[in-house]
Amino acid sequence: MKKYINFLDLGLQPLANNYLTKKDLKKKEKKYRLKVGINLITKLVAINKPLSSKIMFNNKYPYRSSMSKTMIKSFVELSKLINKKFNPKKILEIGSNDGSFIKNFSKKKVTGIEPCANVEKITKKMGFKTYANYWNLKTAKKILRKNGKVDLIYSANTISHIKNLDEVFESINIVLNNNGILIIEDPSLLECLKKNTYDQFYNEHIYVFSLIGIESILKKHNLEIFHIQNLKIHGGSNRYFIKKIFDKRKINISVEVNRNKEIKYGLEKLATYKQFAKRVITSKKVLRNIFNYINSKNKKIIGYGVTAKSTTILNYCKIGKRLISYFIDTTKDKQNKYTPGTKIPILKYLGFIEKDVDFVFLGAWNFQEEIFNKEKKFIKRGGKFIIHTPKPKIL
Ligand code: TYD
Repeated sequence: MKKYINFLDLGLQPLANNYLTKKDLKKKEKKYRLKVGINLITKLVAINKPLSSKIMFNNKYPYRSSMSKTMIKSFVELSKLINKKFNPKKILEIGSNDGSFIKNFSKKKVTGIEPCANVEKITKKMGFKTYANYWNLKTAKKILRKNGKVDLIYSANTISHIKNLDEVFESINIVLNNNGILIIEDPSLLECLKKNTYDQFYNEHIYVFSLIGIESILKKHNLEIFHIQNLKIHGGSNRYFIKKIFDKRKINISVEVNRNKEIKYGLEKLATYKQFAKRVITSKKVLRNIFNYINSKNKKIIGYGVTAKSTTILNYCKIGKRLISYFIDTTKDKQNKYTPGTKIPILKYLGFIEKDVDFVFLGAWNFQEEIFNKEKKFIKRGGKFIIHTPKPKIL
């Protein structure tokens, strides 16, 4: 994108969530060159040449937020906090996926926007008011017409997927009451750099936000962060509580603390990102060495949890069928398909890891705790996990 200085080149990548059918294997897969850059004026970090939303988010979208207990628990806790602290009469969720968040509220209170019709249908069937639309000015005007203004807007792991941030916040301003609350949750750039999780970058994650980056864009739209929670979710996320600038709500100390943390780490400086890029190159070398070493000992490696993130890792590190026999995953829409680019078979998770497996590459490393708890038997019999963050290693 314009005004961005590239600092990281993740090579040729396929569409991260485009799991391939057997038929697709015969066709040539579309790939694009994935680079990441920083805009030193706004401090926003973004991928180059984002693809159109229609290519990425359509009625074949495989992601389901209800696939993880961690996410469900987080949504339950947040909904309790929302009711207690803000007691909103009307709530809107942008990117409601399969309804894991809105399910926690009464059907009268809540509306969901979800452009992927296949997942939006799930919530509609449960009796919730949802619209299969992209979040933009047109949708905001439609919501205003049908529903009136809302007291609270929530959006998790969605705003970072939308290129035109000015339109995102302009649209939010249209539907949000003057004393309303906006809550945004997305992976934290600081944690991404600290943990070398370069796989946060893929075609859908147009941005990985820092507080200082978000602040610069919010300011343009008379919006202001008044509280931040640091979450463990997705390898470290930030939950931003935002208000309209005219609202007199007090600004919590967490905002200044987080801002200072980011500045101290160097998120304003290009040199910090260049160092990160060097660590990413080292990470690739070490991960490849681990895989090749295990392979040379004739041990069997499978993948666990196939994610958009793992698409970036596997394609960047050129780890394919030769090194990983297959992936297992609980998501129906991913099963019996093949990983984008690397074409590794994805099998249904049967409730355990097969006896002949020696090593498991953790594609869903962001759910490490949940998965380790589930796979105690595998660990007990000496099975090992391979993970790439913060440094590639065997666990
Ligand atoms: P996620 O990290 O949410 O996806 P992305 O990088 O694409 O945003 O995806 C986690 C995947 O891992 C999802 O397909 C479900 C799968 N999974 C399992 O198979 N078993 C598990 O125990 C957990 C927690 C996730």
